[in-house]
Parts: sequence; C-alpha cells; structure tokens
Amino acid sequence: MKLGFIGCGNMAKAMMGGIINSNILAANEIIASDAYQPSLDKASKELGINVTTDNKEVAKNSEVIVLSVKPQFYAVVIEEIKDIISDSTIIVTIAPGQTLARLHEQFGRDAKIVRCMPNTPAMVCEGMTAACPNEFVTKDEMDYVSKLLSGFGKSEVVKEYMMDAVVAVSGSSPAYVYIFIEALADAAVVEGMPRDAAYKFAAQAVYGSAKMVLETGMHPGALKDMVCSPAGTTIEAVRSLEASGFRSSVMEAAKAAADKCKQL
Ligand SMILES: NC(=O)c1ccc[n+]([C@@H]2O[C@H](COP(=O)([O-])OP(=O)(O)OC[C@H]3O[C@@H](n4cnc5c(N)ncnc54)[C@H](OP(=O)(O)O)[C@@H]3O)[C@@H](O)[C@H]2O)c1
Repeated sequence: MKLGFIGCGNMAKAMMGGIINSNILAANEIIASDAYQPSLDKASKELGINVTTDNKEVAKNSEVIVLSVKPQFYAVVIEEIKDIISDSTIIVTIAPGQTLARLHEQFGRDAKIVRCMPNTPAMVCEGMTAACPNEFVTKDEMDYVSKLLSGFGKSEVVKEYMMDAVVAVSGSSPAYVYIFIEALADAAVVEGMPRDAAYKFAAQAVYGSAKMVLETGMHPGALKDMVCSPAGTTIEAVRSLEASGFRSSVMEAAKAAADKCKQL
C-alpha cells in the first residue's frame, strides 16, 4: 500500500478524498484503520479505500503512514506500531503539540517522521498544511510527502519552532472565521436579509477578501484602506471594530491556541 491512515475521522477522510480526487493516488493504494467500524464502512463506501480495524496491518503494509488520531491517542498507537514499521516507512503526524523530539523518543528508533499541521478546508481541497521533516527524511521523500499534501490544498515546509504559530493561524483559525461569518450573517438578518442569503453574502465576502490578499500580494492594510472611503460607511464599521478591541481579541484567541499546543 502506498499510503495508510491510522484513525479514519474527519481529517483522514478529507486528506484521502483530496489525494484521490487529485489523481495523486488511486483509492486501492490507500488503507485506513479505525477503532470504530462504522467510520470504516463509511470511508470504504464513499472513497473506495481499503479498510481494517487492525492498526498493525496498516503499519506493516504502508510506505507512508498518517497518524490521524487525536493527540491523546498518539502514545498508544506509536507503542502498537513502532516495532512493525520498516526502516523506509515515512510517518506523517498531524496532531498539535507532538514534537519531533518526543515522537523520536516514543518510536525509540531513527524513524522517518514528517510533522504536519493541516486544516479542515482540506475537505474542499483548499487546505493549508505546514510540514517539518526530521533529519532522517531525505529531500526526495519530503518532496513526495509534499506532493501528497498538495492533493488537498497548499503546503509549505517550515521550521519546527513555527508549528504552534501554524496551529494558531491556520490549523484552528477556520473556527474563528466561521464565527466571524456567522456574526456577519446575523447582522444581515437583523437588517432583514433571509438567513440563507446572509450566509452566502458573508462567506463569499470572506472568500473573495482572502483571494485578494493571496492574488494581489498587497498588504491587508492597503486593501482595507481601499474599501474605506472618507466619511463613508466602512470606516464607521472599522472605527467600531477598533473600539471593541477586534484585533486584540483575534490575537488573544490565536495566542490561546498556540499556548494550548505547549501543554499537549
Ligand atoms: N479537525 C481539525 O480541524 C484538525 C486540524 C488539524 C489537525 N487535526 C488533527 O488531526 C487528528 C485527527 O483529528 P480529527 O478531527 O480527524 O479527529 P476524529 O474525527 O475524532 O478522528 C479520529 C479517529 O481516530 C479513531 N481512533 C481513536 N483511537 C484510535 C486507535 N487507537 N486506533 C485507531 N483509530 C482510533 C477515532 O475513533 P473514535 O471516534 O471511536 O474514538 C476517530 O474515528 C488529530 O490529531 C487532530 O488534532 C485536526
């Protein structure tokens, strides 16, 4: 098997779906294990992948293994597979707070590990994933992992010290953005817009704004200034956001996510 997933939940399914839809791997080259049979049945039916309830089967038969369980289950899964993987197996981790040093210690051998942090927009192939290989991963192997990651969005190789910042800015941030979209839509509903239309207007405004930042390369502040005409409506909204500490609130939230990584 080219690729295996241990844990077949939301992130695993998003990653597998993207990799298959991008024709990077065929469904029959992927295997997933999970503790919960209904998750496997669903993944097998929807994606056509191979499934098993035996994590060791995935460990034995996969060239690349993604550990897609929650961080608190990492230790037990690593204990289960550490003596089964081959020297050439590449382990991809996606859990916050699991450092390369800690993973190396848990494996108790010079395993090839790429520490990654994806996000849920991977479900629509618009994910943002950071990746950091340990010293045992060759350049060609890292290029191959990057190719897999590109199946469900964009990816960047980063230094490990940036990983907690990645959780704050992209791993967790879809949740903050959804709250922002919901609040914008609520405001439109207050003004009389039907709710379905409100979500569409709010989400498209966020999507388009993000695209402007990415595609123009302009500073977000300059793009903000372009919307704020003198004595206009937008600058009044900006004034209100500043008065209620919007920027500080976002920064504190992101810092809380980064701080939590250090406790995991
Ligand atoms: N969701 C996100 O936004 C996001 C973003 C970036 C990174 N991540 C990381 O991605 C990882 C997976 O997250 P997720 O949201 O996909 O979680 P999830 O939906 O809960 O999926 C994890 C799956 O692993 C299964 N599992 C638990 N223990 C297992 C074991 N010992 N062996 C095999 N399978 C086991 C769970 O089964 P049960 O349900 O029966 O326990 C569940 O189906 C986490 O480490 C998370 O921190 C998530």
